[in-house]
Amino acid sequence: RGLCLQRLHAVAVAHVEHRARQGHVAAALGFGAVLAIAVEGALAHVEIERGDFRPLVGERHGHVHGGGAFPGAALFVGEDDTMRGSHERAFSIWRVTLGQWTPVYRSLAPMQTVTTLPHLRQAVDELRARDSKRDTLALVPTMGALHEGHLTLVREAARLADHVAVSIFVNPRQFGEGEDLDAYPRQLAEDSAKLKAEGVALLWAPGPEAMYPEGYATNISVSGVSDGLCGADRPGHFDGVATVVCKLFNQVRPDVALFGEKDWQQLAVIRRMARDLDLTQPHVDAIHGVPIVRDPDGLAMSSRNAYLSPEQRAAAATLPRAMDEAIARIRDGQEAAPTLAMLEDELLGAGFSRVDYAELRDADSIALLDGDNGNARLFVAARIGGTRLIDNKAV
Ligand code: PAF
Repeated sequence: RGLCLQRLHAVAVAHVEHRARQGHVAAALGFGAVLAIAVEGALAHVEIERGDFRPLVGERHGHVHGGGAFPGAALFVGEDDTMRGSHERAFSIWRVTLGQWTPVYRSLAPMQTVTTLPHLRQAVDELRARDSKRDTLALVPTMGALHEGHLTLVREAARLADHVAVSIFVNPRQFGEGEDLDAYPRQLAEDSAKLKAEGVALLWAPGPEAMYPEGYATNISVSGVSDGLCGADRPGHFDGVATVVCKLFNQVRPDVALFGEKDWQQLAVIRRMARDLDLTQPHVDAIHGVPIVRDPDGLAMSSRNAYLSPEQRAAAATLPRAMDEAIARIRDGQEAAPTLAMLEDELLGAGFSRVDYAELRDADSIALLDGDNGNARLFVAARIGGTRLIDNKAV
């Protein structure tokens, strides 16, 4: 796939440069070049098309040469307008299937990294001002140490909005006494390279002093959904999350925001806060949860998996497996309490040192259940060595 994408990129660059040498009208008029590559057969048909980065749906059909409608399945290579006139060429390649546009590749584009609020505001304004028809912005808040789960959020963000901003901030207010704040992996250079490769437009990476300046005194506390599970085990954790996420929303003012469903309770807290505080950027309906990304053995991806030794990593795979078994028993009509006790025993037998909770809860209200109510979810937090792993699955 990598080689194929490199070749597509090379084809795209060659065509655009050829056109530029010819003084082609498109270049003179300032249109970006778009290549539509039909994939019926092996790239049977390559078209250079007038257009621009992510043309509107209506434009696609009308402008493809060769007299036909846009093919049902295609790879579409777009030159990023913002790069026109510079030496670098930026391209994105989209897979188009029955009207669904999915980004499959974005060449290196000049991602802006900003660390102060005035620079952030300026960068967001500039991004939105580039093209009034394509000015929507998605935010993916993270604490860095990016893995495939985060990159899945970024790709989904690119599907939902014209531009993607990612924040990286290891938020001290959501770490309790004795938790892993100092040890939490920090790898900004590596993360930044990954985000550039995904075509992220903006990286917001404030330091603690930019986020919580001298005299900072405000806290957001969401009761109810915050109370059980991780809220009970990690007092103050969700206050820290709600506070920083509210600040990130106000700072970036995105149209949509995306969070991983691995932190299901966190997502419930953030949605509750957005609803209660009447947030509009983003509106609660534009706060998206993205399904958990798992390693091949089923373990949910997490930045904290990096703490596990090879033996602990092997034992950790018991967690999703034992959850699946428990869910199957509950679906079979077995009682929840003994089933969850068996699940705990299985984890302890496999090398986990402690099970913080293994509970059945309502997926929306996070209220405790003693059986499946049709909207139940199984939530588990368990420790292996010093590492606390969490997971959740629908029942
Ligand atoms: O899920 C996380 O990485 C963090 O809790 C978040 C949402 C970025 C807030 O610090």
